Amino acid sequence: SHLHSFPRTAKRPERLSAALSFQEPGAFRVKSLGELLRALAVFRLCSYPALVNNCGKLMSVARALVGRRLFSLMLRPTVYAQFVAGEDEGEISQSMQKMSSLGLRPMLAVPIEEDLGATSGEKTYDENLEAMLECVRMSHSNAWSKEPMMQLKMTALLSPELCVKLTTLIGQRTLNLNLLVRALDGEPIQFPGLNESEVAHFLCGLQRLNKIAEASINKVRVLVDAEYTYVNPALSLVTMAMMKKFNQDGVWIWNTYQCYLKESRSLLLEALRVSNDEGFGLGVKLVRGAYMDKERKLAEKEGRPDPVHRCWEDTNDSYNGSLDVMLEAVSQKPERYRIIVATHNEDSVRRAARRMEELGMDNDGGAVCFGQLLGMCDHVSLTLAKEGYAVYKSVPYGSVEDTLPYLVRRAQENQTVLQGIRKERELLRRELHRRLGLRRRWCRANGQNASQVGPLNN
Ligand SMILES: Cc1cc2nc3c(=O)[nH]c(=O)nc-3n(C[C@H](O)[C@H](O)[C@H](O)COP(=O)(O)OP(=O)(O)OC[C@H]3O[C@@H](n4cnc5c(N)ncnc54)[C@H](O)[C@@H]3O)c2cc1C
Ligand SMILES: *[C@@H]1O[C@H](CO)[C@@H](O)[C@H](O)[C@H]1NC(C)=O
Ligand SMILES: *[C@@H]1O[C@H](CO)[C@@H](O)[C@H](O)[C@H]1NC(C)=O
Ligand SMILES: *[C@@H]1O[C@H](CO)[C@@H](O)[C@H](O)[C@H]1NC(C)=O
Ligand SMILES: *[C@@H]1O[C@H](CO)[C@@H](O)[C@H](O)[C@H]1NC(C)=O
Repeated sequence: SHLHSFPRTAKRPERLSAALSFQEPGAFRVKSLGELLRALAVFRLCSYPALVNNCGKLMSVARALVGRRLFSLMLRPTVYAQFVAGEDEGEISQSMQKMSSLGLRPMLAVPIEEDLGATSGEKTYDENLEAMLECVRMSHSNAWSKEPMMQLKMTALLSPELCVKLTTLIGQRTLNLNLLVRALDGEPIQFPGLNESEVAHFLCGLQRLNKIAEASINKVRVLVDAEYTYVNPALSLVTMAMMKKFNQDGVWIWNTYQCYLKESRSLLLEALRVSNDEGFGLGVKLVRGAYMDKERKLAEKEGRPDPVHRCWEDTNDSYNGSLDVMLEAVSQKPERYRIIVATHNEDSVRRAARRMEELGMDNDGGAVCFGQLLGMCDHVSLTLAKEGYAVYKSVPYGSVEDTLPYLVRRAQENQTVLQGIRKERELLRRELHRRLGLRRRWCRANGQNASQVGPLNN
């Protein structure tokens, strides 16, 4: 595609700001008419609060009414096609090739949503392991992207109940990094505070994680997702142990930091300190965080202080601060530190680009990259790719049935993200009008003359 062949020029700040203004509907020129219409329709649906806030319930009712098969058939060409890559390797492969032709790199994710209460036996976790190993294989065996990445949800391999218990043990300082590294190596460690069956499950879980890491090292970067605060300390400690074992030469295991948490800054600084003291590579996925409502409700119910920042502006400041800390670290030791700026926020993206420029970092040097979710804010991703940055799209795949909880969460993650989507809708609409030859009329209605809409020409 023509998006590849843009000349890479040295950018002055004003050129950078202009290039990343994200005002150009031209980013959507690569979409088919059907895709434009679908995106518009799906985002339109996502703009009705009543629909979105009850979509979990509505979907169950619809499924009960029309039956599973028909429900699948209805969802497939619409919401599913917007946010999910497909079900089998053939389908996924098609989406991925298209994506990589646009200069975007896929980051596959097996959307397994586990939460407390869903008690599964070792067999389920072993099946999840197989699915993840398959994901590792798909990520590197197809030439979809340079430096492939994938996401890993740790609670799909280690029960959330155990993670909760581990989190309390970490609070009492009875667990440490070296103990976990030895367990990853296969030593039958006795963990203080856990009973026999819990130890057995923990060791199995660590072996599953070890298998995934061994399969990915030197091939695929594995980004461990952050989840709820009642499990995150456990996830982070285990991830750190994996980093210590596998990030000796190269950054293969990454952790996620959620800037909506009040403690996120100190968690990140602590991680930098440990990685420095212990001498292993630290990869950071920096996000704002996806579970705000539930975190707040839970804190309120348990009478704890809210772990999430008071308002969006505070989260925004927190994101900016952590971004700065990481970019600084990366610019000093690019072989040791890596960051993916995982956000749809145009300000954050511009801010990261400007800092990279100031620190003299290459757009595609590999130490800094960007990430957005499939089907969301394509105008941001496509513009970044056009400007030569490394951009990953988080790509969930699986059957309609398996991806449903993920889809519900996507639709509910509304709030400020919707502002981004509102703009995306506007750009989509403009591109649609251009296609339908209504451009002149649109310009008149919006009080602009055609020459001001430059990028739309040709
Ligand atoms: C590649 C990728 C990987 C991801 N992995 C994870 C992950 O592992 N774990 C995870 O939790 N999320 C993850 N996310 C989701 C991410 O957290 C959301 O996409 C993100 O929260 C949306 O924020 P934004 O920066 O895109 O948008 P913005 O629109 O700038 O911000 C919206 C976010 O701000 C925060 N916010 C909104 N209102 C308030 C308020 N009143 N007070 C405080 N904070 C507020 C919330 O976090 C909200 O989601 C991932 C996203 C991407 C793109
Ligand atoms: C977003 O979700 C919250 C709770 O889930 C709800 O209160 C709010 O009205 C929603 N906003 C929009 C624009 O859908
Ligand atoms: C270990 O503890 C869990 C709950 O924490 C309990 O369900 C299980 O029965 C216990 N197992 C043994 C062998 O005591
Ligand atoms: C959010 O933070 C950025 C810095 O990253 C800043 O430029 C921007 O003004 C902030 N936005 C708001 C609304 O405070
Ligand atoms: C972002 O954070 C850096 C470092 O903490 C700070 O110097 C800068 O002023 C912040 N920018 C904005 C716009 O808040």
